[in-house]
Amino acid sequence: MTTNSTIMDSNSFNMADIDKLPPKLKAMVKRRKILGGSYRLFYKEPLDFEEGHGTKLYTPDGTEYLDAYNNIPSLGHSRREIQEAVSKQLNKINTHTRYLNQNILNYAEDLLATFPKELNRVMFMLSGSEANDLAVRVAKAATGGEGIIVTAEAYHGNTALVTGLSPAIGSDVPMDISMRMIPTPDTYRLGTDDIGNWMAAQVEKQIADMQRHGIKFAGIMLDSIFSSDGIFPGKKGLLKPVIDMVHKHGGVYIADEVQPGFGRTGETFWGFQRHGIVPDLVTMGKPMANGIACSALVAKSDLLKEFSKNTPYFNTFAGSPVAMAAAQATLDTMKKDNTQKNSLDRGKELASKLRDLAKKYPVLGDVRGVGLYIGVDIVKPGTKEADYNYAVRLIETMRENHVLLSLCGPHGNVLKIRPPLVFSKEDVIRFVDMLEKSLDEMENKKE
Ligand SMILES: Cc1ncc(COP(=O)(O)O)c(C=O)c1O
Repeated sequence: MTTNSTIMDSNSFNMADIDKLPPKLKAMVKRRKILGGSYRLFYKEPLDFEEGHGTKLYTPDGTEYLDAYNNIPSLGHSRREIQEAVSKQLNKINTHTRYLNQNILNYAEDLLATFPKELNRVMFMLSGSEANDLAVRVAKAATGGEGIIVTAEAYHGNTALVTGLSPAIGSDVPMDISMRMIPTPDTYRLGTDDIGNWMAAQVEKQIADMQRHGIKFAGIMLDSIFSSDGIFPGKKGLLKPVIDMVHKHGGVYIADEVQPGFGRTGETFWGFQRHGIVPDLVTMGKPMANGIACSALVAKSDLLKEFSKNTPYFNTFAGSPVAMAAAQATLDTMKKDNTQKNSLDRGKELASKLRDLAKKYPVLGDVRGVGLYIGVDIVKPGTKEADYNYAVRLIETMRENHVLLSLCGPHGNVLKIRPPLVFSKEDVIRFVDMLEKSLDEMENKKE
């Protein structure tokens, strides 16, 4: 089992193994020394991808891999509609938000139309981290508070502010002194069906702890699918008592939709909508422009008042005509192809086939998820004890069988299955066949 400080590295190449790599890969990895030392590569033998089309990625020798991991190109790799929109806009003009331009207005209206009407303002950034950073600053200005609550294995980004609110980054990284954590809502191990009220009680406890330390409560930031916590979408409505508790104590609710947003959960376009609640602030990014840097903060207009009064906001590349053209083409294509419905249908098929497989392979302890966001808890057979080593060997074996996925959760033992939303029926079958093959190969190696 791994410790908290290594979770972010649970699927990563170890530099000490560089001499074991084939010559070409070894040379590339060596050249990467020019990059800052904080970068990590996936897998024992890193992958060099030269092309990607739809749900497939290709190495320079043409070997095909099924992508069951990358959520940024949610419409598929090298999507034509996005290429055309970006190229057309680059041929016209690309400036910034200090000049008027139709693109940002058209997209802002279309994006806000996907939200409940109370969420009626939008600001643009370039990454999920920047969106969360701004959301926290707005929450603090609106409440006059400081203290933010997150889950124990949350990841909200990499700015100084949100790194301090991202315990998943590892126990060696200092956390914000006014941040408080509630435990991961582990529906598999907690032994209660009433996770919502359990979570609300945890929130109340942490607010009381803030008060005892003279910290005014500002709000809570939650990934609506608890992805880095191990993927716990939970039952619909689960977050209602939690958010009621936050509001009762004068805090605001920031829904981090970087992972579940844009139809991934299949049931709704935004993850929070599964719970019948309206957040005060919503952040989004990753799949927003199918690979072009683009993120956003959506807010209730009242909440922005205090912050906007005194703080101008300019973000050089954000909301540019090109970024907006890419985001617009992404949203239009999502609607045209109904990727939300595909996510729901393929997600159901995949989860059901994985549950069938779990009957045969007891290492697959729990299969959970909504839409095309599925976690499989790898355990020691007959127990709920996380088996990190087995999980790492399994994703390495899947890689040998040309399927990409990764790991998450506090013990780094949960298979993270999060393919582009255009995953097909054939892709689902290929994924499950390769998982079964990989499990069999691992069983055979044991003997
Ligand atoms: C839930 C969540 N929030 C925020 C972020 C940060 O987004 P970005 O890497 O675009 O800054 C991530 C990134 O993985 C994330 O998973």
